[in-house]
Amino acid sequence: MTLIAIVEGDGIGHEVIPVAKSVLELLHPEYEYFSVDVGYHRWEQTGCPCADRDIEKLKTADAILFGAITTPPMKDYQSVVLRLRKALDLYANLRPVKGNGFDIMIVRENTEGLYSGIEEIGADRATTLRVVTRKGTERIVLSALHLAQIRSGRLTIGHKANVLKSDVLFRDICITEAKAAGVSWNDKYIDALALDLLQHPARYDVVVTTNIFGDILSDVVSFLVGGLGLMPSANIGDHHALFEPVHGSAPDIAGKNIANPIAALRSAGMLLDYCGDHQGSDLIEMAIQGVLAKGIRTQDLGGSSGTREFGGAVLRGLGQPETGA
Ligand code: NAI
Ligand code: MG
Repeated sequence: MTLIAIVEGDGIGHEVIPVAKSVLELLHPEYEYFSVDVGYHRWEQTGCPCADRDIEKLKTADAILFGAITTPPMKDYQSVVLRLRKALDLYANLRPVKGNGFDIMIVRENTEGLYSGIEEIGADRATTLRVVTRKGTERIVLSALHLAQIRSGRLTIGHKANVLKSDVLFRDICITEAKAAGVSWNDKYIDALALDLLQHPARYDVVVTTNIFGDILSDVVSFLVGGLGLMPSANIGDHHALFEPVHGSAPDIAGKNIANPIAALRSAGMLLDYCGDHQGSDLIEMAIQGVLAKGIRTQDLGGSSGTREFGGAVLRGLGQPETGA
């Protein structure tokens, strides 16, 4: 029995995740689904955005489909997403971006770096510790190298070793492991890499980088495919896996039925891939392409269809009878 946890979270999570969940239920009625309610809205109601028992429930799932959670910039609020990534040790954040003539996989270290959570906040001085460890770097570069080997066999290491001495360690470990694996590699400073990815996307295959750089880089490269509404991601550890759009809770458009559900649908596709159903993942992508080809698209892509209408069209493309839509 495959057990799937569903976390809508906050904002547009309540709109895009139900679409993706319907598709999973259509393709896999035999899976068991359960919902876990965590997020900023829970903090507003109860003072606790995510309880220990929520984390324990999520740990029982074979895979988690996750929307997005609002993290207000407040000193005393701990990010639920960061807590989950650490609690489930989801160290590899895979963010694919595919378009005309390019197919890039950003592999972002997901548990340390500048998102270490080790901070000292004073009235006049605040510091955040940027942590790079041998263990953390080795396991993320091994994930990236594994992907490079089953893809086109090229690795780019994104870092800022000229300024950040912590990135000298990151870069050197990545190079050592790439040489040991026999994978062809190059390295680039992260700022130059951000521009070059936009100018010459076809030159790249797998890009490995540290936590905050990967976070920023993936929003930047979403420009190549039409924006954040299209970008899925996987957060993979040795024992757990969580799939979520790259985008956040988008409070500016929440509740309006205008969010693009493609990122959530593709995240569901990555979840199926992880669960071993590669055909299901392909079917979802084909259904998305089929709907786009009919000119049905959400506002961010220049269309006028709503989230639910786009989702309904994808379900019909996958063969759901009209009466069940
Ligand atoms: P965001 O990704 O939510 O939104 C950025 C811009 O992209 C907004 O203009 C939004 O309307 C647009 N956008 C995002 N997703 C879209 C979609 N599916 N369709 C159409 N347009 C879309 O980032 P923002 O505004 O910086 O953050 C909002 C909240 O989300 C914050 O509280 C942040 O902490 C949280 N967040 C949570 C994440 C997670 O749970 N993994 C990831 C990123 C942000
Ligand atoms: Mg981000």
